[in-house]
Amino acid sequence: MTDIEGATVLVTGGQRGLGKAFTEELLRRGAAKVYVTARRPVAGDDPRIVPLALEVTDPDSVAAVAARATDVTIVINNAGVVYPAPLLQSEIADVAATFDTNVFGPLRIAQAFAPILAANGGGALVDIHSVLSWGAGFAAYGASKAAFWSLTNSLRMELAAQHTQVVGVHLGFADTEMIERLTVDKIRPEVVAQALADGLEKGETEVLVDEVTRGLKAALSGPVEGLEIKLG
Ligand SMILES: NC(=O)c1ccc[n+]([C@@H]2O[C@H](COP(=O)([O-])OP(=O)(O)OC[C@H]3O[C@@H](n4cnc5c(N)ncnc54)[C@H](OP(=O)(O)O)[C@@H]3O)[C@@H](O)[C@H]2O)c1
Repeated sequence: MTDIEGATVLVTGGQRGLGKAFTEELLRRGAAKVYVTARRPVAGDDPRIVPLALEVTDPDSVAAVAARATDVTIVINNAGVVYPAPLLQSEIADVAATFDTNVFGPLRIAQAFAPILAANGGGALVDIHSVLSWGAGFAAYGASKAAFWSLTNSLRMELAAQHTQVVGVHLGFADTEMIERLTVDKIRPEVVAQALADGLEKGETEVLVDEVTRGLKAALSGPVEGLEIKLG
């Protein structure tokens, strides 16, 4: 269980999309301070929100954020990108860039912040996953989310000794800029934020936000064809 009341939080990509909803929900539940990162951070007027510049693919940028945010007790690895090209038509450089942001980026953050979380009593690491941790059909993005799930599960073991709660949050489609062109049913970012905060407070290790995600995880032991996610 992780206390949100009085917590100091880092949300990567916290100035828009799901990250913004996480910031608002954690502040609503009593977080004292939230560092929100963006590649081009914009100052706001809430003194509890501290914007920081972060490019997760740049080790120096990650190190600079860790040097600044030494009081963090909850880290939310939220930043992510989608390159939609089918795998067979993708430039390998674009696939590698997807992994650099969606897999190695959160690993850089976990490595930089593990000692900070330990020094501050353990705290929590939250990784934002997807139904595509298990689903097929979203090319490099899906592959990166599958890799990220594996990484989270190993980090959970490695961070247990320092009493850091490691939470993986999985969801289907949420209404943000990332999938604005998709005409599918989308959940509101606030719903994801509430599920994340509930998971932290209850000490959960995995949060399955919606029915599509719960259904796909349950299908894992069945035929692989049951894991295909098709649009339209
Ligand atoms: N929306 C969905 O349906 C959905 C479903 C499942 C999982 N997710 C996951 O949820 C997370 C948030 O997605 P979203 O829907 O809120 O997307 P979004 O609106 O496109 O926001 C993406 C966020 O990631 C940050 N970011 C991207 N590349 C970065 C980089 N190289 N370095 C630092 N920050 C970077 C962006 O920061 P800037 O402000 O600097 O651009 C932005 O804040 C992602 O991990 C995504 O894969 C989303």
